[in-house]
Amino acid sequence: TPDVRPLVAGNWKMNGTREFLTEIKTIADGVIGPLSEKVDTLICPPATLLYVATALATDSPLEIGGQDCHQNLGGAHTGDISAEMIADCFGTYVIVGHSERRADHAETDHLVRAKAEAAYAADLTAIVCIGETGDERDAYQTLDILKRQIFGSLPQSANAVNTVVAYEPIWAIGTGLTPTVKDIEIAHAFMRAELVQRFGEEGRLMRILYGGSVKPGNARELMGVENVDGALIGGASLKAEDFLAIYRVY
Ligand code: G3P
Repeated sequence: TPDVRPLVAGNWKMNGTREFLTEIKTIADGVIGPLSEKVDTLICPPATLLYVATALATDSPLEIGGQDCHQNLGGAHTGDISAEMIADCFGTYVIVGHSERRADHAETDHLVRAKAEAAYAADLTAIVCIGETGDERDAYQTLDILKRQIFGSLPQSANAVNTVVAYEPIWAIGTGLTPTVKDIEIAHAFMRAELVQRFGEEGRLMRILYGGSVKPGNARELMGVENVDGALIGGASLKAEDFLAIYRVY
């Protein structure tokens, strides 16, 4: 999208013990330079590594974020972490509504929206994930699902600074499969139109990431599609070399 600064983001999921911190350090060092004037970068490690990860990235444009936050700002919620805790560790983003959270923890659009609002309250940028299952795709329901999820998961106060949308077709996650360029183009143009309809000019500037089997080998093609404003990378973000190769397609 013209005038939109792309974001290359890595989601480490439930991967990453302390030995992985060397990858964070390599990524943090690798994104120092002129390209960082044009492209934002982010790694979302597991919560256990957040604080150390931000310390490793202090002198780097690399941002660090959480993978989820609770919808409440604090209180009796054993095992959960709040948006404020992520901000307190110097995290600046949080992923909400990833399909794995929606599936593993029965998260609904309504809950995801509340989590995005919690993120705003802590001054975090929410990366709101949406995407259809393989069955929904086969039934030609992709655009209906995207419409419903954009409507249900994005708060009314979403804008281009506090919100990033990530389109992750569930069948493309961790499978090595990706939609065709044409299909991505249709889906992203549709999401753009929905965002503009709901948020006006802000919707034009909101970043829409593609996620699902993004690798160094396909990144150039995928990132070149209109209305694709960056990537949300799972597996390939665990290796600094792969993450940096994807970043460098810009
Ligand atoms: O959030 C990113 C993710 O779901 C994509 O995973 O491993 O297919 O890149 P992967």
